[in-house]
Amino acid sequence: MGVVRPEEITQASLASFGNAPDPRMRHVSQALVKHLHAFVSEVDPTPDEWMAGIEFLTRVGHMSQGARQEFILLSDVLGVSMLVDTMANPGGGNATESTVLGPFYVDNPPLAEQGADIAKGVEGVPMWIDVTVTDISGRPLAGAIVDIWEGGPDGLYDVQRNLAPGEYDLRGRFAADQDGRVTCWAKMPVSYPVPDDGPVGDLLAATGRHPWRPAHVHFRISAEGHPPLITHLFASGDQYLTSDAVFGVKPSLVLDLEDGQDRDIPGDRPIDGQWKIMEHTFVLADG
Ligand code: BEZ
Ligand code: FE
Repeated sequence: MGVVRPEEITQASLASFGNAPDPRMRHVSQALVKHLHAFVSEVDPTPDEWMAGIEFLTRVGHMSQGARQEFILLSDVLGVSMLVDTMANPGGGNATESTVLGPFYVDNPPLAEQGADIAKGVEGVPMWIDVTVTDISGRPLAGAIVDIWEGGPDGLYDVQRNLAPGEYDLRGRFAADQDGRVTCWAKMPVSYPVPDDGPVGDLLAATGRHPWRPAHVHFRISAEGHPPLITHLFASGDQYLTSDAVFGVKPSLVLDLEDGQDRDIPGDRPIDGQWKIMEHTFVLADG
């Protein structure tokens, strides 16, 4: 009986999954062992360091419930959420690129009328959103369902503020009109930090990273016969466009927010200061 070498432990662990009946399960579990063992070999942690890592993941798990999904946030700040999204939606052609859903999506948000004000009492610079949904040949997709959501000027989404049940802010679902168009009043988005009061925030701080995301508005668009598009539009000029904490920026999703001052104000809205316009055409891939 000789001394057991580290490679033998890796081999034994790999072999233990070798008879998994489902080939995908076998591949995933063996790849996990292979890469995790390579990680440990490279890092060469002390037992105390390894325990600190386990305690970190335990804290992440304890913080993951309801609207606070710390494990998703960990995946986001490690770039894994964007990697999975981009591998699943490789783009190409003229279809609009996707980006992360984020943790603040609400399924089945309230249906709103065209031109509605989804900002309600929220402060901030008014912004007119005017978007059109087409297929890749430019044909308008009438009836497309467009969910829109964004944070307020305090950097918080409605689900992070304790609103009464059924109350929403800066969030709405619209049905595109005959021209594939959806319009509403919202607020000019501002950059905001991802939730950084938990273990993921500690990781960012310990590694000298900031928690900020550049200003953006979220969209989820679905139309029959097309895969749903989950994306954002980012405001050009934001200081965090090149260092998004979750790596969600794609250049094709960055646009200039035009000044509304020289235009007619849509609807009969009294605005005596600055207002902005977010205009864009979303192109849905073929199904
Ligand atoms: C968001 O944009 O809402 C978001 C995305 C990933 C992590 C945190 C927030
Ligand atoms: Fe967001």
